[in-house]
Amino acid sequence: MSDLKKIKEEFILKLNKKLNLENINQVKSELFGKNGIISSQFKNIGKIKESERKKFASELNLIKDDLQNLINSKINEIENSEINKKLDKEKIDVTLPERPFIKGKIHPVSQTIDEISSIFSEIGFNVEEGPDVENEYNNFTALNTPDNHPARDMHDTFYLDEKKQKLLRTHTSPVQIRTMLKGKPPFKIIAPGRTYRSDSDQTHAPMFHQVEGLYIDKNINMGHLKGCLNYFIKEFFEVNKIKMRFRPSHFPFTEPSAEVDIGYEIKDGKIVIGEGDKWLEILGCGMVHPNVLKNVKVDIEKYQGYAFGIGIDRLAMLKYGINDLRAFFDCDYRWLNHFGFDPLDVPTNYRGLSR
Ligand code: DAH
Repeated sequence: MSDLKKIKEEFILKLNKKLNLENINQVKSELFGKNGIISSQFKNIGKIKESERKKFASELNLIKDDLQNLINSKINEIENSEINKKLDKEKIDVTLPERPFIKGKIHPVSQTIDEISSIFSEIGFNVEEGPDVENEYNNFTALNTPDNHPARDMHDTFYLDEKKQKLLRTHTSPVQIRTMLKGKPPFKIIAPGRTYRSDSDQTHAPMFHQVEGLYIDKNINMGHLKGCLNYFIKEFFEVNKIKMRFRPSHFPFTEPSAEVDIGYEIKDGKIVIGEGDKWLEILGCGMVHPNVLKNVKVDIEKYQGYAFGIGIDRLAMLKYGINDLRAFFDCDYRWLNHFGFDPLDVPTNYRGLSR
């Protein structure tokens, strides 16, 4: 038997013993390491008589391949058996009873915000956001409500520092300011979010929700405002006709200003929107005051527009027949189960933001 054959036999015997990964790697370097047996044989090729060199080289290559294949298959075997051992240990017991599964509900306020955003998005309004902690300038001064303006007292503000520079925003109107300061007209946005005032009874909570609307362009007027609100209210309450009236009012940041009431009646103990001779106030609005536009460097010779602020909680109460505002924020799971929305059970007029 040639030397090469002897080497092959010897190592096949070795590799067929019970080896672990470490032993196999040792054998591998014994054969193929820098000074390994096979590697040294390759170095010898040059010293072999020319007549025998070709035969020797081809025999050596075959033996190298055989041993290498054997080593690889042994390594594979060991790795597979380790994986199988692990899998055996991790077997899932399919006979165990399932864990209790509690499906959450969407809060009526979140649902209402989604519905409002969806309706306004369809007619070209972008949704903007602002922080709950605002500075005094954005919340009041820039909105044409300087120090000592009586409207400041009406807001029952939660101030966060002694100098009254930081506060919890009392309305979503500061998002108008933030939007106009960071961009260029035209602006067509709504800004839903949390607002805060030191006030609490059956119809007021210290934290509540508003949605601000702002549309500034070259020729926007009160007619556009009326058309937009009319469309929104019909879509939101899912009715074909509504009664709506604009009552003159005052806000420092709009001129002229109005409050909007919608007609309703009570039928079988339930509120029906759009019919009857009772009136319900649902929002404030007006044409944005030139002083506000000047404060955010919008050219009042070229641009004008409207703004509105709607109380979201009140809309949610009306639409979903909830009569105590405080229940929204009690975090009573039973209440949420009753009034909340199934994430997959979407009301008929909800179109989803992506459509
Ligand atoms: N910010 C007002 C409030 O909280 C609501 C409001 C009224 C917003 C008129 C507006 C507006 O943008 O034009 O009472």
